[in-house]
Amino acid sequence: MEVKTSLLDNMIGVGDMVLLEPLSEDSFIENLRNRFDHNEIYTYIGSVVISMNPYRALPIYTPEKVEEYRNRNFYELSPHIYALADEAYRSLRDQDKDQCILITGESGAGKTEASKLVMSYVAAVCGKGQEVNKVKEQLLQSNPVLEAFGNAKTVRNDNSSRFGKYMDIEFDFKGDPLGGVISNYLLEKSRVVKQPRGERNFHVFYQLLSGASDDTLKKLKLDRDFSKYNYLSLDSAAVIGLDDAANFRTVKNAMQIVGFMEDEVQSVLQLVAAVLKLGNIEFKPESRSNGTDESRIKDKNDLKEMCELLGIEQSVLERAFSYRTVEAKQEKVSTTLNVAQAYYARDALAKNLYSRLFSWLVTRINESIKAQTKARHKVMGVLDIYGFEIFEDNSFEQFIINYCNEKLQQIFIELTLREEQEEYVREGIEWTNIEYFNNAIICDLIENHQNGILAMLDEECLRPGTVTDETFLDKLNTICAGHKHFESRQSKNSKFLTDHSLPHNCFRIQHYAGKVLYRAEGFVDKNNDLLYRDMSQAMYKAKHSLIKQLFPEGNPAKVNLKRPPTAGFQFKASVGTLMRNLQTKNPNYIRCIKPNDKKASHIFTDTLVCHQVRYLGLMENVRVRRAGYAFRQAYEPCLERYKMLCKRTWPHWKGPAREGVEVLMADLQVPADDFSYGRSKIFIRNPRTLFSLEERRRQCLQDLATLIQKIYRGHKCRSHFLLLKKSQIVVSAWYRRYAQEKKYQKIKSATTVVQSYTRGWQARKLLRELKYQKRCEEAVTTIAAFWHGTQARMELRRLKQEAQNKHAVTVIWAFWQGTKARRELRQLKEEARNKHAVSVIWAGWQGTKVRRDYRKFFRANAGKKIYDFTIQRIMQKYFLGLKSTSPPMSPVDKSWPARPYRFLDGVHAELRKIFHHWRCKKYRSQFTEEKKAVYKEKLEASEIFKDKKALYPSSVSQPFKGDYLEITKNPKYQKLNSSVDAKVLLADVVNKINRANGKGTARIFLLTKKGVVLADQKTGQVKASVPLPDLASVSVSTQNDGFFALKLKEGSASAIKGDFLLSSERLIEIITKLHLTGATAADSERLNIDISDEFLVQFNHDKVCVKFIQGAARNGNGVSCKRKNNRLLEVSVPTTA
Ligand SMILES: Nc1ncnc2c1ncn2[C@@H]1O[C@H](COP(=O)(O)OP(=O)(O)OP(=O)(O)O)[C@@H](O)[C@H]1O
Ligand SMILES: [Mg+2]
Repeated sequence: MEVKTSLLDNMIGVGDMVLLEPLSEDSFIENLRNRFDHNEIYTYIGSVVISMNPYRALPIYTPEKVEEYRNRNFYELSPHIYALADEAYRSLRDQDKDQCILITGESGAGKTEASKLVMSYVAAVCGKGQEVNKVKEQLLQSNPVLEAFGNAKTVRNDNSSRFGKYMDIEFDFKGDPLGGVISNYLLEKSRVVKQPRGERNFHVFYQLLSGASDDTLKKLKLDRDFSKYNYLSLDSAAVIGLDDAANFRTVKNAMQIVGFMEDEVQSVLQLVAAVLKLGNIEFKPESRSNGTDESRIKDKNDLKEMCELLGIEQSVLERAFSYRTVEAKQEKVSTTLNVAQAYYARDALAKNLYSRLFSWLVTRINESIKAQTKARHKVMGVLDIYGFEIFEDNSFEQFIINYCNEKLQQIFIELTLREEQEEYVREGIEWTNIEYFNNAIICDLIENHQNGILAMLDEECLRPGTVTDETFLDKLNTICAGHKHFESRQSKNSKFLTDHSLPHNCFRIQHYAGKVLYRAEGFVDKNNDLLYRDMSQAMYKAKHSLIKQLFPEGNPAKVNLKRPPTAGFQFKASVGTLMRNLQTKNPNYIRCIKPNDKKASHIFTDTLVCHQVRYLGLMENVRVRRAGYAFRQAYEPCLERYKMLCKRTWPHWKGPAREGVEVLMADLQVPADDFSYGRSKIFIRNPRTLFSLEERRRQCLQDLATLIQKIYRGHKCRSHFLLLKKSQIVVSAWYRRYAQEKKYQKIKSATTVVQSYTRGWQARKLLRELKYQKRCEEAVTTIAAFWHGTQARMELRRLKQEAQNKHAVTVIWAFWQGTKARRELRQLKEEARNKHAVSVIWAGWQGTKVRRDYRKFFRANAGKKIYDFTIQRIMQKYFLGLKSTSPPMSPVDKSWPARPYRFLDGVHAELRKIFHHWRCKKYRSQFTEEKKAVYKEKLEASEIFKDKKALYPSSVSQPFKGDYLEITKNPKYQKLNSSVDAKVLLADVVNKINRANGKGTARIFLLTKKGVVLADQKTGQVKASVPLPDLASVSVSTQNDGFFALKLKEGSASAIKGDFLLSSERLIEIITKLHLTGATAADSERLNIDISDEFLVQFNHDKVCVKFIQGAARNGNGVSCKRKNNRLLEVSVPTTA
């Protein structure tokens, strides 16, 4: 069974101060102490959670605790920060109200821890899933990164937030986190260069030096020893309970989870290292000729290393430490820096570098954690800002921090004290006003636009002329002197003139949380937040991408001569925005209280706690809560929420909501003192009433849920049953059908068997009968067959007998008839022979008689005459026939009709000859004289060369033209023509073969009736003239060449030079004509023509043998002639294909 707990069960002291009795400051503190001593660090004032810092780990943040508080009513369990977180989360998720959790308290009171607890609780109870878990993890892991860079050890807190942080966690409609947005507020950057005694610089410096590997440190050019760095205070470098090395690993891991790239992490570490290096740069004065001092860097090694880290040119930075350029409109003035100014520039650079790096980190984290969807989301803001601080030495930063806390207190007062009381009045509830201190007056002192401290500081910073912290203080003294919360030695207010606790260079403000003495020194500077432009330009020139990004104003292309807004102005604006933002959300308060100043557990310093209780206005808070009402709600939502508790209002109330609520309250019998009806809201005084309402509602919801469940289950079961029933019918129908089918099949098969047996039996019986019948029929048939056989055989035997008898009769008859016929035939033949012999004898006798009578009438030559007549007729027919069958007239035709009778053989052959001669004669008679001469030549050529020389067949078809050069007509040969006295029979160009080498030379060859002339082809000059009688013979080869040798008679006049060896394509014509001419010439004998492949030629005195050989046909080259030796000229003639 569930154990029901309640706020009031097992309570140590009073869990809700509203129930404290009697209520006094002492009892209040006592109750806190009592609870604190029993490890009950959380106490409520209504819905406000008071959190005491236990300074030790308590076992109240376990996952079991988370489960315990999950979805439980706020007042149901003992006070816990988880209850508040759960309430906020549920009202965000279920009622769609944006929430903000405001955590206030002075430095070290536990705000940051509380904010982390809230975030981790929300992370634990909201939805799960891969994507959601990643978002949660990133949101949670942003804390270690920001704490490393933004937290530091102070005298009040070892992990003091030195920046303000407001984080919006965004949820979807289901309450799953989607992402977040972090806003950061003014980092206390002066800490980078200087830390008060007992305090440290930001954690990251110590973490880097302690936790980084040797290799990393080497790369960053750092030394593990803190004492090597001017910017790190030594007296409290190591903090008890703080493991810097382990934290460094945590931070690196967190950066990775948040989504930093490895090179981004490296860049960040390089910047941190560069800040440390920067702190080590020292300056020395160097006198100039004009008597002023100029700063010079003492040891450039650190500068060099820093420049290497950031990729800055050393000379650029070195110059920025020595000179300052002031730009005004178009003018640029460069002045040297003295040592103090150089240090100022260095520190300003370090502060700016670090604070900009911090802002970049926040932006980068925001990039990673931002919600990926644009869908509308609900927001839970968690504000963890630096707590109220009072140090020994308070400066601009504390002023800003405390101003911020004033504003938060203001918002608390506004919403819990003033707003609440005003609401009672508005709603017409009876109310006695409760006094409380409203810190609006202090806020006004600081932020008033005209005469607020920040406005005056800005005015002073912007004022031309000499501006110092003193002038600023003077201004404050004159303007704020009359303010109730402002104290100054120099103000006209004589009250403080003798107050030695108030130095002359300070002013004091009475904050809501106590008086704080501020030293005016540094206010102007810090507010100006001046970084020389030379510095930012030097940084912009860096090759390091992150550095470049951090100093965009260093871009020479974007020089902005306008002053940047002051730090105070910026802070005021951002706090204003924050306050407006917070006012739009439903506030949830956690008020953190520090039990002691020693950061020790178990120590409860009454005075310290009392002071905090006072300034936090907790007593007033309790009083307002006690006099007022714990809970209020408009009638509609109230009725909507609780209407199920009354039968009359459930499920629908028809009428005004207020009346519904009244009916409801009456029905529930809530005592009239416990609530009041306002104009639009119901006010419930006691949380217990609300709790009981909620409890009843919860119970009722459970009952309703049970009812719904019951009806639903009934409906489900009934539906299920009906379905089962329907199914059962279907199943049984199917089964029955199946069973009947089976049975029927069985009967059917049994019937079939019986039937088949019966039928079989019947059939067999019938078969037997049929078989018997058949056998009987067969027996009958067989018997009949046998009987018929016997009958047939007997008949056959009888018939055979009959036939045999008949045949014997026939044979006998035939023999008898034959014998009779033969006998008759012999008689007839005998008679015929006798008759013929008689007729022959008669004819012979008659013939002899006739011939004897007519012999005298026949002539002896009648046969010859008939013969001659017959022959004549045949001849006549033969000749007449020839007329029609005679062959054509062509002499070359060889046809002749066939001979008709053998005896005409000789005549037929003779006639053929005669006919051929006759038609040849007829043919010849057609020729002219010239044609006859031509044919004569051709005939002559045929006689000389046919079948003797291979060249001959090709010449047959070529007509013999004779004068190829047209020598008589051509004027070119006129002279030559005239030199030849006889008629030219042939004129052509021939090749005269050179006797020495066998090469040819063109010569005109003329043949006349008298002789042969050889003349030059070009000039026509006669080279040789040979009379025909001098020619002895002509030699040619048997082959297809045109070579011929004119052989001269020995001793003739022409024979002096020897024979001529010539060559011509028209050899046949030349030789033929030469032969004919020689024959016709009266005084000469026939020219001898020698056809042989080897002949001798007389050259001068030698006889040379001209030999013709068959050679291979060569391209484009015909006959070739070569002189082989003195006695041999070889002519190679290609074989004709
Ligand atoms: N709930 C807690 N349980 C255990 N220790 C706590 C708790 N709350 C605070 N502390 C301790 O107190 C220290 C200071 O708390 P925290 O840093 O939250 O103070 P703060 O209010 O944020 O101070 P500041 O304004 O300086 O940032 C923590 O470092 C932690 O040691
Ligand atoms: Mg903090």
